[in-house]
Amino acid sequence: MGRLDWISRPAGPLHGTLAVPGDKSVSHRALMLAALAEGDSRIHGFLEGEDTRATAAVLAQLGVSIEAPAPGERLVRGVGLHGLRGSERPLDCGNAGTGMRLLTGLLAGQAFDSTLVGDESLSRRPMRRVTEPLVRMGARIDTQDGLPPLHVHGGQRLHGIRYELPVASAQVKSALLLAGLYAEGETEILEPHPTRDYTERMLAAFGWPIEFAPGRARLSGGHALRASEVQVPADFSSAAFFLVAASVVPGSDLRLRAVGLNPRRTGLLQALRLMGADIEVLDERHSGGEPVADLRVRYAPLHGIELPQALVPDMIDEFPALFVAAAAAHGRTAIRGAAELRVKESDRIATMAAGLRTLGIRVEEAPDGAAITGGTLGQGTVDAHGDHRVAMSFAIAGLVARGGVRIEDCRNVATSFPGFMELANGCGFALKAI
Ligand code: S3P
Repeated sequence: MGRLDWISRPAGPLHGTLAVPGDKSVSHRALMLAALAEGDSRIHGFLEGEDTRATAAVLAQLGVSIEAPAPGERLVRGVGLHGLRGSERPLDCGNAGTGMRLLTGLLAGQAFDSTLVGDESLSRRPMRRVTEPLVRMGARIDTQDGLPPLHVHGGQRLHGIRYELPVASAQVKSALLLAGLYAEGETEILEPHPTRDYTERMLAAFGWPIEFAPGRARLSGGHALRASEVQVPADFSSAAFFLVAASVVPGSDLRLRAVGLNPRRTGLLQALRLMGADIEVLDERHSGGEPVADLRVRYAPLHGIELPQALVPDMIDEFPALFVAAAAAHGRTAIRGAAELRVKESDRIATMAAGLRTLGIRVEEAPDGAAITGGTLGQGTVDAHGDHRVAMSFAIAGLVARGGVRIEDCRNVATSFPGFMELANGCGFALKAI
């Protein structure tokens, strides 16, 4: 597919009420559990992104009927825990780390072999973090020196393990829990810092006995999943771009509707408030077992902070946006304890540092973070390296960069945020594809 570049020019103020698309993490999990459940499940608010559609296509290839009665709706005809059928063809996870890692756990317990492949970016992402503990559970998985493609051998007898995650990762935790459904005995996961617990909550909602608390989860194999109805909240990580945009463009006043506020996702909200942002949480309620609320964000002058390291796992996907907030803030923002950023869809410390430097901002890189000295952003051409969140973050930088920003390689925005450009321009951005 051809490359896509964007130009984002100074604009605003930003105004309006926006509904950002459904949560990516929840959408992936809903498809997988619904596929393995007995009976028909409905998913509302499903993210129509390339990542989640890739997961749906993989499950369809494994024999699951998934209908799309309307945009954002899925009807999944569950085949039961042992009802998947093997596929001779490779299973293509596209750009999705979540898809590949969770599916690896799920496939480790099947009777058939599978091969998982991904795009260029996913093919560079480390998979040993999942395959190593799965092998301890009795799985057999071949990697290419720790990277995809992954060949998952079927017909293995899995047994539960007690595993302390070396890095906080909801993807690894979830892969092990999904393998644990097929394992003999108990699977127990302990995390160095609590991560998003959607898999645990959703397993419980689908009727699987599971014990969990922040930082730990435990289940046994040999039960069944019951079909369920899933309401997917709006993705906080997509809302995040607008929280930063309205915070940095003078005169802005935006409202974001029904955003998922799972506490393991909202670190950026706290970080922005520490920087002086004006964000109100309105009409807090629950939807599909998750806390949601409307967010009102108004322009406020931001100042640099030393980011509390405890917030890092709760905002692991929001660093590209935070880098831009820091660049537009007064003073220095120091980020440490975020080495995981180097193995996301791109090396997000390097890609954000390079782009911001091009725009005239001082960035000192560290192995596990960066120090950004806020200032006046100038014009320039930056490379998103095919990373959706980097592309959207530089679109925000363009709003306040004198002369605008040209952003190269933006096609992957559709992996997580289809319709970003339309939504952004609708509230006052001046963003166009070239
Ligand atoms: C995710 C977990 C996080 C996050 C990713 C989605 C998930 O990855 O960065 O975008 O849905 O479990 P890690 O588990 O690798 O930190």
